[in-house]
Amino acid sequence: MRVGTLPITRMVGMERNQAKMTQVLQLKKMINHQVLTMQKNLISRRRTAKKSNRVSEAITVLESNWRDGYTVPSPYLYPFQWLWDSGFIALGLSHFQEDRAWSELEFLFKGQWQNGLIPHIIFHKESELYFPGPDVWQAHKESHAIETPASSGIIQPPVMGFIVEEMYHGASNKELARVKLLEWIPKLYQFHAYLHNERDPKNEGLIYIRHNWESGLDNSPMWDRALERIETMEQDLSSVRKDLAKIDASNRPTNTEYQKYLWLVDHFKANNYFESEIRKECPFLIQDPVINALLIKSNYALYRLSVELGDPIEEFKIWADAGKKAMNSKLWSQEYSNYLGYDLYADKIIPESVNTSFMVSLYAEIPSAEQAQEIVHTHLVPFDLDGYYLMPSTPYKSEKFDPKRYWRGPVWINMNWMFVQGLSSYKYNDWANQVHLDTMELIEQFGIYEYYHPQKNLTEGCGSSHFSWTAALYLDLLQRM
Ligand code: DGY
Repeated sequence: MRVGTLPITRMVGMERNQAKMTQVLQLKKMINHQVLTMQKNLISRRRTAKKSNRVSEAITVLESNWRDGYTVPSPYLYPFQWLWDSGFIALGLSHFQEDRAWSELEFLFKGQWQNGLIPHIIFHKESELYFPGPDVWQAHKESHAIETPASSGIIQPPVMGFIVEEMYHGASNKELARVKLLEWIPKLYQFHAYLHNERDPKNEGLIYIRHNWESGLDNSPMWDRALERIETMEQDLSSVRKDLAKIDASNRPTNTEYQKYLWLVDHFKANNYFESEIRKECPFLIQDPVINALLIKSNYALYRLSVELGDPIEEFKIWADAGKKAMNSKLWSQEYSNYLGYDLYADKIIPESVNTSFMVSLYAEIPSAEQAQEIVHTHLVPFDLDGYYLMPSTPYKSEKFDPKRYWRGPVWINMNWMFVQGLSSYKYNDWANQVHLDTMELIEQFGIYEYYHPQKNLTEGCGSSHFSWTAALYLDLLQRM
């Protein structure tokens, strides 16, 4: 059989290969054309060699981190799909490859659980490069999860609402955008309903997170007190942690912190990922201002979109209004001119004022004009612009400030991206321009990194290079000048 059919098979194979080659060439041509047009537009606004290099580099980062349907945050440190990363990445992609931008979000929904939860990591394909993988989470075995793709069992900030609104308004193919939104708004409704119904047991308008990874700000000083109450056996995790093989340990959470992160995962598994069981004895249960602000921002965006598409969903607005009110009554601190976290386990406010909280709250337009003024007056006016880039994640005067360690000091591009928009929505245009300038300078001088050492005489890119959301938001920020 094989002998007789060999030439035909080979011919068919060759034809198929040829067809594939033609397809690839066409695709390349199309992408090159889009890249060129984009570069032309961008470069005509800012004409320097370094900038134009970064534009093509940013596009290359997004190209090479693409995995047939979605984008990994970075090729060797984060080899799966992450929820909030994908939101920012989709926005960047939407400026030059709209199809990929839609697909990015499509792949997120593939991981949505039956109870509405959209997991923070979706393990579409296997990879040995990351810990903890699906075998540690064991989430796919639960009745309200789905079996494939495997996923983690926690959330990440719900950014999709405001991202799809941006994408819808910028879409060149409006009909396609409309079709996508008609399909996705119900899925996002399910996700937000899960958050409001399961994560707000006292109906306060604020949701809780039950793991620091849910906040996206993994090792922020905000979580220290809650994590302190978790007692673990001293165990060296360096052999299982894959991050330390690639990134300097001084840039990453510590061994003790990781023990506690894993303790919480065990707690979820022991309670079969049932929310009402988990929260009964969960030592980490926090109403975090950042995740709540982002949920409010997304709820308002989805409400507007539902109106625009002719089928208003009032609940989005009800959730958003209640959240905004509660943030200002429960989480606002006059003393710190900032929003603080609330520890539901200890039933008290967490007296830890970090910059990320007011940066994101301004973006979500939570403060009144007077509160915004206090924020600017307290945190920006005395800021040492000669010594530091705007805006370190943790204040450089804090005793917890650690300029290279993840969320304890470094500047993060997604936070600056929100801060720029927040400041301009309150008409602090000079400050918005300054944050914009600093952000561009960091990327253009130091490369496309995960985060940056904020101290001017010591600045360097930290964490992972080739970081997707930095590339994506750089392209987006160039359009916002
Ligand atoms: C990590 O592994 O560092 C991630 O931030 C957790 O999602």
